[in-house]
Amino acid sequence: MRKPIYKNMILGAAYYPEHWDQPLWEEDIIRMKEYGLNLLRIGDFAWSKLEPREDVYHIEYFDNFLKLCKKHQIDVIFCTPTAAPPMWLTEKYPEALNCDMEGKPYYGPRRHYNYNSKMYQKKCVQLVEKLAHHYGNSDVITGWQIDNELNCDLSEFYSQADHQAFREYLKEKYQTLDAVNDALGLTFWSRSYSDWSEVTLNRKNVGGAVNPHIALEEKAFFSESAIRFCKMQVEILKKYLKKDEFITTNGLFPNLDYNKLMDTGLDFITFDSYPNFAFDLDKRPKDEGNLNDRKWSWNLAWTRSVSPVFGIMEQQAGANGWSSRMETPMPKPGQMRLWSMQSVAHGADMIAYFRWRTSPIGCEIYWHGLNDYSNTENRRLKELKDIVKDLKCLEKLRGTTYKAKVAVLKDYRNTWDAASDCWHGRIDYLSDNNWFAATQLTHTPCDFYYLRESTTLDDLLKFELLVYPHAAILEETTSELLKQYVESGGTLVFGARTGYKDRFGRCPIREMPGIISDWTGMRVADYTLVGPADGTVNVSIGNRTIEAPLFNEVLEVTDSDTEVLGKFDGNYYKGSPAITVKKAGKGKVYYVGACFSEEMVEYLLENEKVIEPYKDLVKLPKEIELAVRTDGETDYIFLLNYQNSETVIRLEKPMESLLEQEYVNGELHIKAFDIKVLIN
Ligand code: GAL
Repeated sequence: MRKPIYKNMILGAAYYPEHWDQPLWEEDIIRMKEYGLNLLRIGDFAWSKLEPREDVYHIEYFDNFLKLCKKHQIDVIFCTPTAAPPMWLTEKYPEALNCDMEGKPYYGPRRHYNYNSKMYQKKCVQLVEKLAHHYGNSDVITGWQIDNELNCDLSEFYSQADHQAFREYLKEKYQTLDAVNDALGLTFWSRSYSDWSEVTLNRKNVGGAVNPHIALEEKAFFSESAIRFCKMQVEILKKYLKKDEFITTNGLFPNLDYNKLMDTGLDFITFDSYPNFAFDLDKRPKDEGNLNDRKWSWNLAWTRSVSPVFGIMEQQAGANGWSSRMETPMPKPGQMRLWSMQSVAHGADMIAYFRWRTSPIGCEIYWHGLNDYSNTENRRLKELKDIVKDLKCLEKLRGTTYKAKVAVLKDYRNTWDAASDCWHGRIDYLSDNNWFAATQLTHTPCDFYYLRESTTLDDLLKFELLVYPHAAILEETTSELLKQYVESGGTLVFGARTGYKDRFGRCPIREMPGIISDWTGMRVADYTLVGPADGTVNVSIGNRTIEAPLFNEVLEVTDSDTEVLGKFDGNYYKGSPAITVKKAGKGKVYYVGACFSEEMVEYLLENEKVIEPYKDLVKLPKEIELAVRTDGETDYIFLLNYQNSETVIRLEKPMESLLEQEYVNGELHIKAFDIKVLIN
């Protein structure tokens, strides 16, 4: 069990008092309460109301609104409004603006500032200090959110302030220019620095090719910048907040190490659940097994891996759409409820919809809230009533955790390397998708585990099977920990391209897979991308033929305890080892010399007998997602139907269906977009 955020499972919404006249506020709050909402998030973009001109503050702007919240007993999360600087600020202090790689500034519409401008930091400190002082003791504010969403919209920063701060960052980290030149491989094509004044973040380059080692280092720097900015605000809030008020921030975005972000003093993070992105008009949602909106479950797994306690600060409440992009249809009847329950199934106990009412102004006029532009009851508000009822039935799940025996290992260094190295990125993307698809379609609950410096053996031993798909960068300490995991009884799977880079993204002189070679008992003798002219290359394992897509490594056994499980059946390396396994201590380690296809994942899960752990309880078609929350004794089995048609499943024993509060057995019909929660 985890420490829950609120004393009840709670539903809420984002609200923007500044978008409507005061007389509407109370009517809105009354209606929210009638619909069963008990939580509001405010403030996120209200800077120009709070400081309409430089140093002219109207900090009390929300006082009347908060009085109404108190009167009607609705909790409030207050968000620091630093994500959208007012016009007066960026016009007077253009150094606060973020710039693109060519050095051209962004002028809006939000998140167009940079974290390193001293002037911007000063303005933020002044504002947050005043807000915390004024509202820190409010008895309706239960928590604070920082800066809405760090690194959303833009996660790269190339203003002068950033170039300058990067220089300082490198000085502190490497001390000497020689060390910088060496770590970032600057001898290549004569990019070495001769003076600190020459040091910059990547800039526009011929053919768009940037130095990959600077690209990796600058991502770490962007992350550090966001973390420092967050910490600056956390420290101010901590001076003023009541003991039980929490501090959070929302969303998961690129170039940000969320493990380190959590260490700034955040109590948990919240997440955006917008599964409707799958039906964006630019996309072609036709994935097999309907993994479109269902794919959001992967993001939820990421969320709980960095923050075991989490809420949803923005849950889809209508169609997406800015006036410039992201057009989608309205969620169909039942989808809003389904997606809300998807969040709950993956561990959320707090759900706030984005937003109470659709914005009447600005570029988000098509991003629909629970209400349309009017206050007339609509289909989605009626659906909200069902969700409120459901959540009441699910009250006893509060604090329970998602249950998985399988996990995909991740770490930020590799994620960032994959984002700027197209070999690494391509294989990582494919394998990631296939681990998601295979675990989903076989109903094998799967977690992410983000490796961090503090990771212990016990953290890893919670999982029976771990896969570290393409850890190009693999350091000694991680290798040692993983070896201990295997020796203590875990099953570990590595994929192609493991260990060929050092922490700077350089390729040291050594055989692949580098430092794990001795304890995996194999080496890579040859390797290649699988090109379009190579056709499909498979691996033969017993009488099975399994595709080995995108990248192949020809393996060679170097230890008599290592067994060859499968061989390639095509290309110039036909007949060569493709998969090895070695028993070590109480566990075993696999090496798969390829990218992971869905069938390969299935094979591994089957071979290790971790596939479909609930098959003795329930027989499911692929289209249904299975997710389990547990309090350690009782399992709550969520079955979610993402299809626009009814599906029939089969229960192998009678179980209580929690939402209907009845016992069910045998055939069970799950309607289009419906869900069931079974108790075991
Ligand atoms: C979120 C953001 C909201 C709103 C929403 C829809 O990322 O926090 O303010 O913009 O997306 O675009």
